[in-house]
Amino acid sequence: MTDAAAAPTSPFASPVLVTGAHGQLGRHVLEAAAARGVAAIGVDIDELDITDAAAVDAMLEQLRPSAIINCAAYTAVDKAEEPSELDLATRVNVDGPRVLAEAAKAHGVHLVHVSTDYVFPGTSADGYAEHDPTGPINVYGHTKLDGENAIRQVLGETAAIARTAWLFSRQAPNFVQAIAGLAEGREFIEVVDDQRGNPTWAGHLAEALVTLAVERIGGTHHTVDQPEATWFELAQAIVEELGLDCEVRPTTSDKFVRPAARAAVSVLRSTDPETPAMGQWRDGVRASLADRKLAAAQQ
Ligand SMILES: NC(=O)c1ccc[n+]([C@@H]2O[C@H](COP(=O)([O-])OP(=O)(O)OC[C@H]3O[C@@H](n4cnc5c(N)ncnc54)[C@H](OP(=O)(O)O)[C@@H]3O)[C@@H](O)[C@H]2O)c1
Repeated sequence: MTDAAAAPTSPFASPVLVTGAHGQLGRHVLEAAAARGVAAIGVDIDELDITDAAAVDAMLEQLRPSAIINCAAYTAVDKAEEPSELDLATRVNVDGPRVLAEAAKAHGVHLVHVSTDYVFPGTSADGYAEHDPTGPINVYGHTKLDGENAIRQVLGETAAIARTAWLFSRQAPNFVQAIAGLAEGREFIEVVDDQRGNPTWAGHLAEALVTLAVERIGGTHHTVDQPEATWFELAQAIVEELGLDCEVRPTTSDKFVRPAARAAVSVLRSTDPETPAMGQWRDGVRASLADRKLAAAQQ
C-alpha cells in the first residue's frame, strides 16, 4: 500500500482509495492527492484485485474511504483482439467496475471511474460530447463501455465516469516515450496524420480525478487536454521539445495496420460545467520528457 499523504495533514476525514495505483495514471493520482493535502491510499493488483468482491468489501470495511478512484484496467488494446484475452479483459474492465460499484453502494463511498474515447465509433467529424451515441469498434472499447454501463446500473449518475484519451506520462509505455526513444539518432520517422484526438497528460487528468472524488461529483465527464491533434502533430511537438534533429514525416493509417481498429476522429468535447478544468497537452509533454532532457544534458 502506498500512502500519498499522512491523514493528520488532510482536510478530509477519510482517505481516497486509488486502485491500479502502479499504472501510469495511478501514480499521478497519488501525487496529485498529496499535492492537495488529500490523504490517499494506493493499491494495485497484488494487494487488491478489483474483481475479487470479498477482498474489495473487506478493504472498504477496513479503510472506510470517502471515495475510490479506479485506475485499474486491462489496457492492452491490440492484445485484446486475441480471443484468448477476452475473458481477462472482460473480468478487469467489466466485472471489476461492477464489483467496485456494488461495494461503493454498500459502504456509501463515492466512485470515480476512468473510461476512454474508444467507447465511440470515431466517425463524427465534430468529435463526441458526453451523451452522444456510443459504438465501440474494437474489443477493448466494448469492454470499457460495458464497464461504464455496469457502474451506471448500480449507481446511476451518482458515480463519476471520466473518459480520457491518448494518455501519456513519464512512465513508459506510451506514445510520448515511444517517439522520444524512436527519434533519438534517427534521420526521420513516419507518423500517422489521419487520426485526430486529444493527447492527455496523466498529471492533468489526475488533478481532475481528485476533484471529482473530493467534491463527490457524479455523471459522465470528458476529461482531456487541449487542443486536439493528430499523432503526427504530437510527434512533432515531442521532437521539438527534445531538440532532436529528426524529421517527422506524415503518413497514413494504412501503412501501420494494427490488430485493433482505430478511430479516425476520437476527439472528446466537454460540455458539462461541472467537469474539472484540464490543461494543455504540450505542458504535459514537457513535464513527461523532463527526466530524459536532464539525462541528455548531463551526458
Ligand atoms: N493509456 C491510454 O492511452 C488510455 C487512454 C484512454 C483511457 N485510458 C484509461 O485510463 C485508465 C488508466 O490507464 P493507464 O494507462 O494508467 O493503465 P496502466 O498503466 O495499464 O495501469 C493499469 C493498472 O491496473 C492494474 N490492474 C490490472 N488488472 C487489475 C485488477 N484486476 N485489479 C487491480 N489492478 C489491476 C495493472 O496492473 P498490471 O500492469 O500488473 O496488469 C496496472 O498497474 C484505464 O481505465 C484506461 O482504460 C487509458
